[in-house]
Amino acid sequence: MPGTELFGKEERQEVMDVLETGVLFRYNNDEARKGIWKAKTFEKEFAEFHGVKYCHMTTSGTTADSVALASAGVGAGHEVIVPPFTFIAPVEAVINCGAVPVFAEIDETLCLSPEGIEAVITPKTKAILLVHMCGSMAKIDEIVAICKKHDLVLIEDTAQALGGSYKGQKVGTFGDTACFSFDFFKIITAGEGGAVITNSDECYERAHTYSDHGHNHQGDNRGAENHPILGTNHRISELHAAVGLAQFRKLDFILEKQRANKKVLKDYLKKFPQVTFREIPDEAGDSATFINIFMPTAEEADKVAAAMGEAGIPAAYWFKNNYHYFKNWNHLKEMKTAAPVALQYFDLPQDYKTIQFPKSDDLISRLISISIKIMWTDEELAELCKKFDEVLG
Ligand SMILES: Cc1ncc(COP(=O)(O)O)c(C=O)c1O
Repeated sequence: MPGTELFGKEERQEVMDVLETGVLFRYNNDEARKGIWKAKTFEKEFAEFHGVKYCHMTTSGTTADSVALASAGVGAGHEVIVPPFTFIAPVEAVINCGAVPVFAEIDETLCLSPEGIEAVITPKTKAILLVHMCGSMAKIDEIVAICKKHDLVLIEDTAQALGGSYKGQKVGTFGDTACFSFDFFKIITAGEGGAVITNSDECYERAHTYSDHGHNHQGDNRGAENHPILGTNHRISELHAAVGLAQFRKLDFILEKQRANKKVLKDYLKKFPQVTFREIPDEAGDSATFINIFMPTAEEADKVAAAMGEAGIPAAYWFKNNYHYFKNWNHLKEMKTAAPVALQYFDLPQDYKTIQFPKSDDLISRLISISIKIMWTDEELAELCKKFDEVLG
């Protein structure tokens, strides 16, 4: 729970700034707000950090996925390639924008594999929603090349890898757009919140307009109340943006601590011959939110993850939980929706009930993810190493 470990006076001060002006809305009210613009300030600093032209905040990571899809012109009749190992939010966003999610195999990076992607491209494929899972990145060069070759939109879901980089360039800046989440469990949190970044004038304009009922905006404010497109409301409030801003300014510290703590534990785990590690295409750019280890068999992974849980090690066995892996998404397989959705009217290229992902099954069934805390002391790290001895020794 990194960001939440650091809640303090900075978050309170940013929130108080907003409450004192009484302007909780991110636009307009120039006089009353006395120069306090939290969403705008966050967006400026977040864009600068990533070295991109634009950032636009949203109400959540899920709405950031939706806004990114809309901003890239993805919708009904399109297929979007997604991974079977992800928190389900990006898949929901694809369905809710009217497009069809097409699942492809992952590889040892825990992200979509280039071969998996190539195998499911059809003439209807419009985009790849590439999720950088559990703190680090996919094989970005190969996937960017596939997008160029097939003229596909690349959207990077960087909700779990904020601050990561690949060959010195920030993860989230390789595609057309990228989305982030600042929910309660993320590297930084705004309570709830998200963001989309892009270098494209057109994508930014569409993201901004779509997120605010299609209003056009002039500078900081809503414009002349023209509505060039239909939109919706995914607008962040100044209160959430204020918390996000204080947290974002702690990101360098968070990353430094996560990386240092992960290194201690990972170095220790190397002594167990049965443990192998997830492939990280650029280790120096790992945001280090998790250590991801493979056990030789699914049975062993299940047993070890349970023993770790009992010993107080913060370990997850995704193969069995029902929100991170396709195998357990029965609501999707049985197409249980609140109301009819567009994809129920299309000929689907995949039968979700019967499709198999042998490579992904093999990897996820053997995977254990251990989350890294920022404020672990040296004593607590030593204690964790002792627990590894008990469980794995
Ligand atoms: C990869 C990924 N994308 C999107 C989301 C959705 O974020 P939110 O909870 O802010 O809607 C999550 C949340 O866990 C996530 O892990």
